Amino acid sequence: MHISDSVKYVGVDDHKVDLFEGQFEVPNGMSYNSYVILDEKTAVMDSVDEDFGDEWISNIKQAVGGRSPDYLVVQHMEMDHSANIKKFMDTFKDAKIVSSKMAFTMMKNYFGTDFAERQVVVAENSKLELGKHTLSFIAAPNVHWPEVVMSYESSEGILFSADGFGKFGALDSEGDAAIEKWKDEARRYYFGIVGKFGSNVQAVLKKAAKLKIERICPLHGPVLSGDVSAYVSLYDIWSKYESEEDGVLVAYTSVYGNTKKAALRLSEKLSEKGQKVVVHDLARDDIYECLSDAFRFSKIVFASTTYNGDVFPAMRDFLFKLAERNLQNKTVAFIENGSWSPMAEKKMASILALCSGISIIEDKVSLRISMKEENLAQMEKVVEALSK
Ligand code: FEO
Repeated sequence: MHISDSVKYVGVDDHKVDLFEGQFEVPNGMSYNSYVILDEKTAVMDSVDEDFGDEWISNIKQAVGGRSPDYLVVQHMEMDHSANIKKFMDTFKDAKIVSSKMAFTMMKNYFGTDFAERQVVVAENSKLELGKHTLSFIAAPNVHWPEVVMSYESSEGILFSADGFGKFGALDSEGDAAIEKWKDEARRYYFGIVGKFGSNVQAVLKKAAKLKIERICPLHGPVLSGDVSAYVSLYDIWSKYESEEDGVLVAYTSVYGNTKKAALRLSEKLSEKGQKVVVHDLARDDIYECLSDAFRFSKIVFASTTYNGDVFPAMRDFLFKLAERNLQNKTVAFIENGSWSPMAEKKMASILALCSGISIIEDKVSLRISMKEENLAQMEKVVEALSK
């Protein structure tokens, strides 16, 4: 990947990983990005996952062409970016580590050493002069760990954004940065990993708004270049918990198919009314794709059977995942089912009470095992309310 004459990509693609961070499905793999800035001094931006240390070191050696790097800038200490710090320091014995104070504490926790003699501690507005290139540091706590710093290189207008603006997928299969190709997996990544920390993302975006940004170099996914405002604007929407599109997510769980039938019938009726509708089976579809669509659309229908006097487990898990990530500003409707005593709507509403700005449609569809005429009448009212 060509970035510029002075900034080289030295990251790696991982096609072995099944679950990124132990929970996110990544069918197209994952990239762990690292960059080298070549100037009078050379700086390497972040390390890579443990399994790729040799490949990364080899990439660095090729990029620096016989020189020894002067600095390793550690923007984030999560292990997908920090695992090879010690290997780097053992290989390039004159190099220093540039990082936040908290990151050095984490290094000691990880490696048993904080490289005390080789530290350069940086904080908000600290600068690192490399020659023609200068890095300025931007504290970015909780995007997505507390020690994170981002770095802005002023001569080329590059924002090294740590996990921010990242995306699932290895670069050799998911490296297209065109926004329509980028946004679905970037949104799934954002709400899965960073979604809880919207206010922190907003704080960073405010700082970034003062910078002239020509490129964004994240730690995962493609480099974003040219007019980056479309990407920044999506991050602004996501971190303010605004909906990206007017439309309806219909999210259902179903044991014997009756709740599913009701959910699909409701979806058809919404489509007939001109609503954009996406349907997910929470027990079968990727839960983080479901979650991403919940944040994406302005309206959500939750459809679930009653189970053990509560809501079905896959729905309960989904709702808590949404609440944990501060779901806000949605119009919501319910379909519930119960063979003798439906409880699902009450239980779903009680979890959503943890969220703010949720407007619940008064009418609901309440099934006793299977759909009847009375349910179709209930459905009409729900569809009407969701189509306003
Ligand atoms: Fe890519 Fe928070 O690590």
